[in-house]
Amino acid sequence: MSFEKIPNNVDLSGDKRLQRALEAWQPNFINWWKEMGPDGFQEKDIYLRTAVSVELDGWAHFDHVRMPDYRWGIFLTPHDGNRKIAFGDHIGEPAWQEVPGEHRNALRRLIVTQGDTEPASVEQQRMLGKVAPSLYDLRNLFQVNVEEGRHLWAMVYLLHSYFGRDGREEAEAMLERRSGNPDKPRILTTFNEPIDDWLSFYMFTMFTDRDGKYQLLSLAESGFDPLARSCRFMLTEEAHHMFVGETGVQRVVDRTCQVMKEQDSDDGFKHGVVPLALVQKYLNFWFTSSLDLFGAEVSSNAAQFFAQGLKGRAHEERDYTEHALREGTYRVARPENGKLVEDEVAIRNALNEVLRDGYIEDNDRGVRKWNKTLEEHGMSYRFKLPSRRFNRKVGVYADHCFDPEGNLISREQFDKLRDQWLPTAEERKQVATLMQPVYERGKIANWIAPPPRGINSQAVDFEYVKM
Ligand SMILES: [Fe+2]
Ligand SMILES: [Fe+2]
Repeated sequence: MSFEKIPNNVDLSGDKRLQRALEAWQPNFINWWKEMGPDGFQEKDIYLRTAVSVELDGWAHFDHVRMPDYRWGIFLTPHDGNRKIAFGDHIGEPAWQEVPGEHRNALRRLIVTQGDTEPASVEQQRMLGKVAPSLYDLRNLFQVNVEEGRHLWAMVYLLHSYFGRDGREEAEAMLERRSGNPDKPRILTTFNEPIDDWLSFYMFTMFTDRDGKYQLLSLAESGFDPLARSCRFMLTEEAHHMFVGETGVQRVVDRTCQVMKEQDSDDGFKHGVVPLALVQKYLNFWFTSSLDLFGAEVSSNAAQFFAQGLKGRAHEERDYTEHALREGTYRVARPENGKLVEDEVAIRNALNEVLRDGYIEDNDRGVRKWNKTLEEHGMSYRFKLPSRRFNRKVGVYADHCFDPEGNLISREQFDKLRDQWLPTAEERKQVATLMQPVYERGKIANWIAPPPRGINSQAVDFEYVKM
């Protein structure tokens, strides 16, 4: 275990210049955290896990800590001395330990885009503590928040360490942009959407953090070894974020079913729970917004990142045998003259779509679990992921309208039916009124079921946050 100012396994003390640079960035980070991190609760002791090393027993150290005292650290999965580039045009060459000059701009852009999402989500979630349904959930929120802070550290370390002056400037800019601020927004649209209620938070951690998982999986294959190793370690933390989302929605569904049966009613709001049809609308919104994060269906950038060995497919080395992808095609449907036509696209140009396929499949597994809860309650209602074409703002489907089944429809039809498919302002308000804080040990808000078990083998009524 390390007790340096910045916990790390990158031998920071062996590189004084870098150590000084990061120690100079640290107070700016803390200022940002205090200004834009969770509103309130900064003086409370929270039961958090901290990564103190990448060893099995070190990365998940649990203790009550104040958030500003959280030891944000820099951890890369250990070096495999002779890792080779596993895909693209450089296949078989040794992985880069330094940034190759010709890929400098592309790599910086990939790291900045990933890095920017981390503080963005903390900003989006900053008010949620005020209306947490339980101490268990409050603790999970803060766990996600401090880990997103650590992910920012991971990307800032790469910028400081490998990109000289522009890297340092980009690291500063990470603390200057603000989610939802029209003058200095975060880079990607989804990360400027407000998260005002806990249903949105669970949907975000289910769908948007899972986009993060897939981006990290593809960067974990990168020929730039320090980036690959950073992302591999981040993935271990990301799993908990998606757990919070998937089980959070599942508990909402569980509770709604229970109350509807007790009351023999399907008017959820009347009985203080979220109607199932509205859960589906929230799903529609956050899933489709997150689909946009994968980028255009046909993308020469994606082709280049792959060819250059910067960004692979998810589990490139584990799941595929052919890694050059010089041949092969992929079929992408595209609207033309009022109907869908299929184009045969060179596979390298369709890699955003390939990554999106894996993502959709992964989400489908989660949705099936929610449906299992419905089934256990004897409900006939079922949730469904909408078509990848529905409600898109990026890519070939962006300037067209589709219904959730993926059928091309007119703008007028879409506008007429929009409120049946996506949450209205009024419904969002109604969800917000359900959000009354519950800070008593072992108690839970009316609109959500308690979790089946606690964190780190603690009881559900454990004092996760010392109020
Ligand atoms: Fe993250
Ligand atoms: Fe995350």
